[in-house]
Amino acid sequence: MTTRRAFCTGMAASAVALMAAPGFAQNAQPRLQMPPLIDTTASGRFSLTAQRGQVNFLGQSASETWGFNQPYLGPTLRVAHKGEVQAEVNNQLDEKISAHWHGLLIPGEVDGGPHNPIAAGGTWAPVLPIDQPTATLWYHSHIHGRTAAQVSKGLAGVLQLSDGQDDARGLPSNYGVDDLMVVLQDRRFDRAGRMVYNPARPELMMGFLGDAMVINGQVAPVAVVPKGIVRLRLLNGSNSRIYVLALADGRPMHLIASDNGLLDKPVEITQLALATGERAEVLVDFSSGGGTSLVSASNPNQGMMGGMMGNRSQTQGSFTVLPIEVDNTLPARITRLPDALGGSLAQLTQADLAGATRRTITLDMQMGMGMMLGNLFGGSRFSINGEAYDMDRLNFTAKRGSTEIWRISGAMMMHPFHVHGVSFQVLSENGGPVAARNRGWKDMILVNGEAEIAMRFDHAAPPSNPYMFHCHILEHEDGGMMGQFAVV
Ligand code: C2O
Ligand code: CU
Ligand code: CU
Repeated sequence: MTTRRAFCTGMAASAVALMAAPGFAQNAQPRLQMPPLIDTTASGRFSLTAQRGQVNFLGQSASETWGFNQPYLGPTLRVAHKGEVQAEVNNQLDEKISAHWHGLLIPGEVDGGPHNPIAAGGTWAPVLPIDQPTATLWYHSHIHGRTAAQVSKGLAGVLQLSDGQDDARGLPSNYGVDDLMVVLQDRRFDRAGRMVYNPARPELMMGFLGDAMVINGQVAPVAVVPKGIVRLRLLNGSNSRIYVLALADGRPMHLIASDNGLLDKPVEITQLALATGERAEVLVDFSSGGGTSLVSASNPNQGMMGGMMGNRSQTQGSFTVLPIEVDNTLPARITRLPDALGGSLAQLTQADLAGATRRTITLDMQMGMGMMLGNLFGGSRFSINGEAYDMDRLNFTAKRGSTEIWRISGAMMMHPFHVHGVSFQVLSENGGPVAARNRGWKDMILVNGEAEIAMRFDHAAPPSNPYMFHCHILEHEDGGMMGQFAVV
């Protein structure tokens, strides 16, 4: 496996330049930092301020960035899994933003989607009524048509639901020591070393890809871990890239949680696909004392679209996501894998499923004529069931307390599909069994052809504040591959 190969995208040349630049020498890689932790479990309140900042990612020139309470990205919000939380989000930017709590099962009025805009200079202070299992969730801006640009500027962070019971479960919980937050983003840099978001038209269709890995806002850091069991909380916060993660030395990962919480027991895996918006928690055993690297295969969507876009040769190969070194002086609190986790696989009752309403969801994309001919001026059109997102139109209304089964199919490439306000069970993938990584409670499913999901609508969303469902490739979402539904 290649461990230090250039990130292979359409910008391969500049990626090579980046990797060769000073600061990328192997022994000079910075140590992975955690986002600052705001523990709200005692206070029940937090405050975020969206602000502009400057970050010199590559040691060349500073990039203009956005963040919450800091220049780029936001703090990790640790929130009790049960109880009311008083949130406050201030917007010091000069355009409207929002703060969507991705994965929180809360009413539509406080969900933070496109119907909860925070005007430039404004403040939004919702009370979040939380009652769901512990999980690694996230928050990000969600203004229709601006989500891709705003998230790539940095308006995102981790929201960690906690019940304080991880010690009893035998799980690593020492933030930044044996319990690492790992926010994966691929970002593009220009020749001056400034982060840019400049998708060309074909990239609006395929999804924007970067040419360097940024982890928790750092370019090419190295994680340092104790000689024991380490928990990696992986969040794919990229605009479109799908990672197919593995450890370079072939050692297994033990999947313990997916989007909406812990599984019943650890599942040994050697490969983990993680689409944009998805979270997964894995345990990795470092008790032998040897380090390794988290690596990824190339984005599977590039393979699919590469031939069509005529850049086949630049889409191959694996790359390093995060080297991990062991430091014997760090406290290794956990040295064996837990047998049980106390969570559960996703399973609605037979009674719920028997009475379910069925819907078909088709994620459509059409290429304009110019696009097919490979020029830069063709348009593309995104829609769900033939209709592009319209803030003023409800796609449907679901009944509160009812269960629905959705058969989702995606055109032309893989689409990471997300539903607000629910945790769902994946019933089947392409008519067959569900992949191990998709057997827990999910709020995202990477649709590679067809998938069937089932969910019960326990929370309300009035027509004025409906829940979204959409492709989480941010360019597709902004382009109209999104719909909305009320729950009454
Ligand atoms: Cu992560 Cu509708 O969003
Ligand atoms: Cu969401
Ligand atoms: Cu999509």
